[in-house]
Parts: sequence; structure tokens; C-alpha cells
Amino acid sequence: MTYSVVELIEAKRDGKKLDSDQIAWLIDAYTRGEVPDYQMSAMAMAIVWRGLDGDELAAWTRAMLESGDVLDFSHIPAAKVDKHSTGGVGDKISIPLAPLVAACGVAVPMMSGRALGHTGGTLDKLESIPGFTTGLDKERFAGILAEHNLVLAGQSATIAPADKKLYSLRDATGTVPSIPLIASSIMSKKLAEGLDGLVLDVKTGSGAFMKTLEDSRRLAGTMVGIGNSYGVKTVALITSMEQPLGNEVGNASEIRESIDVLRGGGPADIRELTFALGEVMLELAGIDGGRDRLQQAIDDGSALQKFIDVTRAHGGDTTVIEDPSKLAVAPEEEHIAAPTDGYVTRCDAMTIGAVATRLGAGREKVDDEVDPGVGITLLKKIGDQVSKGETLAVVRFAEPQRWERQRSHLQTAWEIGADPVDPPGLVIDRIG
Ligand code: URA
Repeated sequence: MTYSVVELIEAKRDGKKLDSDQIAWLIDAYTRGEVPDYQMSAMAMAIVWRGLDGDELAAWTRAMLESGDVLDFSHIPAAKVDKHSTGGVGDKISIPLAPLVAACGVAVPMMSGRALGHTGGTLDKLESIPGFTTGLDKERFAGILAEHNLVLAGQSATIAPADKKLYSLRDATGTVPSIPLIASSIMSKKLAEGLDGLVLDVKTGSGAFMKTLEDSRRLAGTMVGIGNSYGVKTVALITSMEQPLGNEVGNASEIRESIDVLRGGGPADIRELTFALGEVMLELAGIDGGRDRLQQAIDDGSALQKFIDVTRAHGGDTTVIEDPSKLAVAPEEEHIAAPTDGYVTRCDAMTIGAVATRLGAGREKVDDEVDPGVGITLLKKIGDQVSKGETLAVVRFAEPQRWERQRSHLQTAWEIGADPVDPPGLVIDRIG
């Protein structure tokens, strides 16, 4: 059966419902290159405006999932649980979290993404460890997972290829912000990982895709519904992305901060979120002990050892984990000073993420090179008291001319008020 693409676009444009055969045909024909990008972008825009109802969303997700391989790790005895974040600034949580829960007996087949827009990417951070390879074929992915209960890789080309194509198209056509399109995109990839459980970290606030709590709850509820309908126990935590997570925004610097957490230190917010998500992952894997079990894996060194072992398995230089000062640091350094006395009332994740990206820590275009040594160290965040002239942040970069273009923009990230304020709460809600 074939359909007229124009008629399908017109139907969605006019608010009509597409049936599951039409959706399956459309996604398949698009993946095979029979439906051109210009028609699919019109369809995506119609969905941005009209949405997809529950049946359409289920059919859309299924078609994207079935466009590629669905992995099967049933031969691995441990429960397979992954975590996905909708993307944030300074969000390195996967790096301490995955070895921590793997050390507690969960199998974590983690597939992560790269930096895009103002947000960083776990793969770029991991690749700041010299030699660390994130592009694995299916056999090597399964082999590392079976041996270490943990693998930290990129999405292979055979997982949800329809999404790979459609996500790039949406990125270039202003059609990313649609709850059904985001939910089906994320869940089609996660459902292909052969999971028993999934925890979603749905960000909310100025530095997140979803700026309002209401939209974040809707996105979380949609993804939890999709996961559970496939028999994958799915829980979402809604967490704040008003200000960056932790004190480091960059690549090598975020690896350093992650190692601090695995050694029992690190910033309080990173520890809190790592433990909150870790607790849910243990719960989904049916492992008792919660936070105490996680703390034990930090205290006895098994979480750090797991990271060292998996880094070696990915070809990475493990000596940088023993001595993180060997990780890259960009040559130039500048300080941002507080313009006045008071309390930090704003430390804007969006601005800080965008400046870090433009200095080379992230990508403005998919094929941009990332500089692992570029980064911003935040010394003052919301709620901190500051004196005029005190350093708010240290910026490390390689190209002074890029910094000159960003300096005044970065200064706008902080606002300082006369009265004390509390930092924003980190974990706002749980869905599922
Ligand atoms: N991340 C994804 O993988 N897909 C989206 O559509 C948005 C964020």
C-alpha cells in the first residue's frame, strides 16, 4: 500500500487523525529516501501545530523503533537499566552515575549523544579522555556490556535510523519543540536498547528544552506512558535547569568533576542528582539498599574502579583518571568579576551554555570540532554571597578573538540582588 504524501500532510495540517498504516508507511518511505526532506519537514511542522493523539503517537514511535535494530541482552543476567537526560548545561551526571549503579549490580547499556545547541554531550566529554572510543559496533558494545555490566557509547547507525534522519531535519527546520516528536524521538532510541528499566531526567527551566514545569510534566508523562506500554519500567524525575549543574561547564573539566564525585567529593548538586537518579535505577533493577548501597560503592572504591575498567575497555588512557590534572586545559584564562556586592539571584544556564559552545566546548553545527580544554568554572551560583570585584567565573579558551566576542554576553548571565535568596530546588517531581 502506498499513500499520497501530500494528502497525509494536508490531513495533519487540517487536524485530522492519521492511522497506523499511514504512519508506518510514511516513516518507512522517509527512511528509505522515497519521501523527500521537504515533505517530511512540512509534516513535522503540521505535527508541531496539531500534535499527535495517543494512537498516532504509539504508531509513530513504533515505526521509528522498527526502522532499525532492536538489541537483545537477555543473555546478560543483571537487569538492564539506562538513564536519559533531555539535555542541560554542565550535565555530566551520566559519567559518575553509570559506573556507580553498575558497581551495585545493574547492567547499564548507555547510549549517549553529542553536544548540540547550548547543551553539552556525554560522548564529547568522554572523548576528552585520550583514546576513549565511543563509536562501537554491535559486537563490541555487547562484549563490553557483558564483561563490565557497563558500556558508554554513541547510538549506532542501525538504531532508529528514521530518528537520526528526522531529528537532523527537525533541527534545521524549527520543528524540534513538539512534545510528541521529542517523546517519540527519545523513546524510539531507548526502546531499541533492550532495557528492563529506564529513568528519564526531564529538565525544566531557562536552560532546558521545556521552559515551563507544565510542559516538562507533559513531556515526562508522555515518555513514561510510551516506556511502560512497551514493558520497560519507566520513571521520570523533573529536575531544574535554571542554572548549570555543578561548577564545571566544558568537556575535560566535567570529566574531572565526575571523577571527584566517584572519589566521594564533587559539588553537592551533582552528588544529589547522581544519587536521586541512581536510587531510581536500583529500584527499577530490583536491587535493595537505595542510597546506602550507592554510598557504599563510592566509599569502597568500586564505583571509581568500574569507571577505570570501562575506560580501559573503551581504549581510554586510565592514567588520567588516577591523575586528572593530565586532562586538557585551554591555554588562555580570564575572570568574570562581580559588578557589585550582594547575593547571586540568577546564573543563567542558557547564556553560560551558549558562550561555552561558541568558545569551542560545544557545536553550533553538527560537524564543528569540540576543544576538550575549553570551559567555564563557576565560582558563584544562585544564593551565594559576593563582594564587588570577586570572581564569579573563570573562563578557559584557546582563541582570544572568540572570547572578545563573548565577554559581554557572559557577563549578563549573573544578576546580583541586595537580599539573600535560596538556590532553586533540584529534584522537583517524580512521574511514574
Ligand atoms: N533529544 C532527542 O533525542 N530528540 C528530540 O527530539 C529532542 C531531544
